[in-house]
Amino acid sequence: MSDDRLIVALDVPNIVQGLELANRIGDAVNFYKIGLGMLTGGGLALANELKQEHGKRIFLDMKLFDIGATIEAAVRGLAQYDLDFLTVQGDPHVVRAAQEGKRGTGLKILAVTILTSLDRSDLDANLIKPGDIHDITLERAALALAAGADGVIASPQEAALIRALPEAAGKLIVTPGIRPLGSAAGDQKRIATPAQAIADGADHIVVGRPIWQHADPATAVRAVLRELPIV
Ligand code: C5P
Repeated sequence: MSDDRLIVALDVPNIVQGLELANRIGDAVNFYKIGLGMLTGGGLALANELKQEHGKRIFLDMKLFDIGATIEAAVRGLAQYDLDFLTVQGDPHVVRAAQEGKRGTGLKILAVTILTSLDRSDLDANLIKPGDIHDITLERAALALAAGADGVIASPQEAALIRALPEAAGKLIVTPGIRPLGSAAGDQKRIATPAQAIADGADHIVVGRPIWQHADPATAVRAVLRELPIV
């Protein structure tokens, strides 16, 4: 049985490997994320095929950032693909332009707060203002939601704080940086287990390497699903 709380990141290089992975996983997963690594490998064609031929939900993770007019045009174009979620950077002007671009479609715009692979030393290197990384993520989430984002992408370690924001009422929280019990962190720094992320208020968890790098991805999916709280 599939569970839409789990989104599997198809971080493989091309449409052929993406389809092969989705076929190996089968009915256990109903929601896939396609990201920048697949952009030149047929990512949009894969999104189309998984949606139209296999009935899957699609999260296109483009993390767009540009001037408002360009964001609006890009999102208007992407919204013609029957996508479910699209990411943009959480800067308010970007979020507002994305909302304009998707007008009249069911696409949900998710704002990126601070990447789950970053910690305070990375923020220092990027000249981001001093302060606790959780506080800055929270401020960025509040700004993006107030600007009209349908939800935010955040570390599971910030999910509970974001869920408590008045701006987050009725909005989506989607958390990458998920590591099932016993799996390697890789380059992710602000991680949690599937159960913890959902308990802290995430609507969806994104899991990549622990599934697609597994010798048997369908087994890895079942292990993640077993960790999710029963609804
Ligand atoms: O392999 P892993 O489970 O770490 O994959 C996480 C996925 O979520 C990757 O596709 C990555 O691009 C994405 N992501 C993230 N942090 C964000 C937004 C997206 O790790 N803030």
